[in-house]
Amino acid sequence: MLIKSFCSQVEMIIWVAVTVTCHLCLGRHTPCRDPSEEDLEAQIGHRVPAYHLLIEKENITPDRELKKCPNALNQTSDLIQDTSISPWSFRVNEDPERYPRKIIEAYCLCKGCFTAPTEQDKSLISEPFLMSVPVLQKTRRCVKGHYKYRLRYVKIAQFCNCHLL
Ligand SMILES: *[C@@H]1O[C@H](CO)[C@@H](O)[C@H](O)[C@H]1NC(C)=O
Repeated sequence: MLIKSFCSQVEMIIWVAVTVTCHLCLGRHTPCRDPSEEDLEAQIGHRVPAYHLLIEKENITPDRELKKCPNALNQTSDLIQDTSISPWSFRVNEDPERYPRKIIEAYCLCKGCFTAPTEQDKSLISEPFLMSVPVLQKTRRCVKGHYKYRLRYVKIAQFCNCHLL
C-alpha cells in the first residue's frame, strides 16, 4: 500500500515535469533579432541614396530641456531660429521601432508671432513647416532570424513659420 502510493507520487511528478517541459518547448518562438545598425543603414541607403541629406542636421545640438517662449527676440543671435518672428529650437524625436531611431526636429517656442522685438501678436500663429523624410519602420515579420523593416515617409518639423489665424 505504502509502495503503491509512493509510485503514484513519482508518476505524478514525472507527468508534471514532462508536461511543463513540453509547454516550454512548444511555446518558445525562434528568436528574432534586429538587424545591425550597419545593415539598416545599408538598407535605407540602398533605397534612398541621399537620405542623409534629408534627415541629418549638422551643427545642431538638440535641447535636453525644452525652451519656453522668450519675452523678447534675441536680436544679437546669429541664428535664424532666434531672430525669426516665429522662433524655434530643436529637440530629438525618438522612436525605437524606426531607423534612424533619433531624428532632430524643430519645435515652435511661441503660440503667436513677434511683430516687434518684445511684442507677441496672438492673432498670428507659429506653425512648424513639415517635410516628409524616409525612414525604415520595424515590422513584426521575421526573415532568417531578423526583423524586416519597411520604407516609409514620416513628417518631421524643419523650422517654424508665421501664419494668419
Ligand atoms: C542670444 O544669442 C546669443 C548667441 O546665440 C547667446 O550667446 C545669448 O546668450 C542669447 N541671449 C539670450 C538673452 O538668450
